[in-house]
Amino acid sequence: MQDAPEKLDLTSMDLSEEKREELLRLFPEARTEGGKIDFDRLKLALGEVVDAGRERYGMHWPGKADCFKTIQAPSMATLRPCPEESVNWESTENLIIEGDNLEVLKVLQKPYLGRVKMIYIDPPYNTGNDFIYPDNYSESLQTYLEYTGQVDAQGRKFGTNADTDGRFHSKWMNMMYPRLYLAKNLLRDDGAIFVTIDDDEAPNLRILLNQVFGEENFVACICWQKKQSPQRDATYFSDMHDYVMVYAKKAKQGKQDDSGWEINLLQRNSKQESRYKNPDNDPRGPWASVDCTINKTADERPNLFYEIKNPFTGEAISPSRQRTWAFEPIKMKELIEDGRIWWGESRRNFPRVKAFLSEVQQGVVPSTLWLRSEYGDNQEAAREIKAIFNETYGVFDTPKPTRLVEGMLAVATKADSAEPEIVLDFFAGSGTTAHAVLDQNKLDGGTRKFILVQLPEPTGRTDFPTISEITKERVRRVIKNFETEDLPEDGEFVRTETATTDLGFRVFKLADSNFKPWDAEVPHESGALAQQLDLYIDHIKDGRSNEDLLFEILLKRGFPLTTPVEALAIAGKEVYGVAENLMLVCLERDLSLELIRAMADFKPECVVCLDEGFAGNDQLKTNAVQIFKTKGVSKFLTV
Ligand SMILES: C[S@@+](CC[C@H](N)C(=O)[O-])C[C@H]1O[C@@H](n2cnc3c(N)ncnc32)[C@H](O)[C@@H]1O
Repeated sequence: MQDAPEKLDLTSMDLSEEKREELLRLFPEARTEGGKIDFDRLKLALGEVVDAGRERYGMHWPGKADCFKTIQAPSMATLRPCPEESVNWESTENLIIEGDNLEVLKVLQKPYLGRVKMIYIDPPYNTGNDFIYPDNYSESLQTYLEYTGQVDAQGRKFGTNADTDGRFHSKWMNMMYPRLYLAKNLLRDDGAIFVTIDDDEAPNLRILLNQVFGEENFVACICWQKKQSPQRDATYFSDMHDYVMVYAKKAKQGKQDDSGWEINLLQRNSKQESRYKNPDNDPRGPWASVDCTINKTADERPNLFYEIKNPFTGEAISPSRQRTWAFEPIKMKELIEDGRIWWGESRRNFPRVKAFLSEVQQGVVPSTLWLRSEYGDNQEAAREIKAIFNETYGVFDTPKPTRLVEGMLAVATKADSAEPEIVLDFFAGSGTTAHAVLDQNKLDGGTRKFILVQLPEPTGRTDFPTISEITKERVRRVIKNFETEDLPEDGEFVRTETATTDLGFRVFKLADSNFKPWDAEVPHESGALAQQLDLYIDHIKDGRSNEDLLFEILLKRGFPLTTPVEALAIAGKEVYGVAENLMLVCLERDLSLELIRAMADFKPECVVCLDEGFAGNDQLKTNAVQIFKTKGVSKFLTV
């Protein structure tokens, strides 16, 4: 620490800087004197594996290079808390964030890096009618603010991505690539992403996911039956399915690899369980009989072609020359003696082997075919929305069935992990993901949390003018239904089996920083500079509350939006103690030596104060730096 406190960095994480540092940590020999990467030394360090060929394999599309600029452009955005639109603000750890997901993903980089267990997204399918939000990598936040009427519009056009547009597919890819890239950073190493898509963009999505996640992390392309009845007027085939593409942040490379994403086996359903019976009262419990021959000929496997004796009738039995036994003679003898071969009720049938329920795998391996009977279909989704909103015509056109997302939660999340697992959906639509998380937690007493992001896309309705209003209202209604379902006879709501279920959510809205930035480009003639100085002295934007400032400081210091914060009274002033006083935030405008000393006595790791709190008293600032230093506070920041 020097004489002056450091300035709080108000920009989102510098991603290329992080990656550079990561590379230099792995290859310190490639570091130049100025801390840059020496590519020649890096090549040497990598030896044979560098592909220096002139023709490279790769996927390119118009605008791809600009995607990197979009990713790297730092964000000056913040998220403003809206307790009045939230449910159970104080106790909940679920979040609904209203805003453009590109900016929101940037703002979430520091606090949620590597913390999300599962991502599900259902992006616009690019059908030609989809609303496309016009990203301009350098002005993305500005565009959003104009769009939501937060600042004056400059006549920018918003519209649909029509398929007459020459760049129809690449526009969609340019929208998706930066978002997927930023989303991947948020996943835990044992996390996975699920993306729904139809045939139009499926090949492009696969390319994008391969590029961002790596082909080696591809897990499955699930085929989900979205319709019951074929469309009679289809030109060629009736389109009955969508895809769910699944990628792991780090997939297992072979069965022996014990790192990376683990899939959960599925519980057997009652139909599957009913196959296990116990007609001979075997003390080992219910069993199902399975074939004990295999698809090998006697010529291919002479050791598996032999005669056995039925122990009940003494009859000699051989397999056919086309299908041999599955076991060698010694093993077969053991199975017969152990009563594991089934000769039918009559004891005269061709033998089969018993598979005991207690010995087979605890669950069923999930398949890549998801039928509507188990995972719901589009009609079911529409019915759900109509029922929740009590309307004949759904308030939202393209919902997914809750059972589909529950199917993903079942394979990719756990109910009882020590750290609650976070599920993120940044194309939230009507909020199906939140509904599924709440349902699943209720079912298995789980502690999963959700983070939804939804653009306030206009609906043209007066009751729910934007889609994000629909998102919030659906989740409010789902929570209300849960509470009334559990209402006992006497009408008093008591949490019983839902005690562990987090029935609430905090609402945040994307906005520009609460702090006016210092403009280094301002001309150095006296009038302009004086105006800039004035702005800077009173550098908090009008109408921004202490809570707004507090949450921006949390985000920019990398604390999640649900970090416990306690309002402390220290030396007669209000100070926020963040994460059990790991960080103290003081937003008072008149700091004193007494207050500084009292804060230092808490021995936090970090203290953040408003610059204007020092009211230009440089002596007080220097003293504060010294006091915090002697008390072991490692970061003292002003904003
Ligand atoms: C296909 S819908 C998702 C439907 C959702 N799975 C459900 O079950 O209701 C896609 C959603 O993404 C939203 N969206 C599109 N662009 C966005 C952006 N840049 N930021 C946030 N949301 C966006 C759209 O408003 C739309 O609600």
